[in-house]
Amino acid sequence: MTLEKELLTLIDGEKNLIANLANLSAWLYHALPDLNWCGFYCWNEEDQELVLGPFQGLPACIRIKPERGVCGASYTQARTLRVDDVEAFPGHIACDSASKSELVIPLIKNNKVLALLDLDSPQLSRFTLEDEKELTKIMCKISEKIF
Ligand code: SME
Repeated sequence: MTLEKELLTLIDGEKNLIANLANLSAWLYHALPDLNWCGFYCWNEEDQELVLGPFQGLPACIRIKPERGVCGASYTQARTLRVDDVEAFPGHIACDSASKSELVIPLIKNNKVLALLDLDSPQLSRFTLEDEKELTKIMCKISEKIF
């Protein structure tokens, strides 16, 4: 089964957002090699910031303002950001010093970013353009179903 099919099967028939994000983060963390963190940040409309959601890995920063870090930039620009070397990214938020590269993908519904998928790796340049394209496409399909 392709990764897309596996993830869509995982959320099929369940409408609870937390449960679905929890299972997606667990599946991705175990399916993709060389990750040290994998999880979601959800946009909190009331507080106007991103709040930590279900994840796998070490405890991470709970709240991220839209003007901060790779996650904030991905949220603000409403696009996937692939960072080969996090230390070279201005304003990068180091939750786990083991993280060297990062891929952040927005989950968009009705033209609004509702959450982000954040993948961190202890390897520099872990994520390829292919990973970026494939995971962005998959998250686009997931977003249609999950919210
Ligand atoms: N590195 C992210 C913060 C989240 S953690 O990596 C889990 C950032 O710069 O936005």
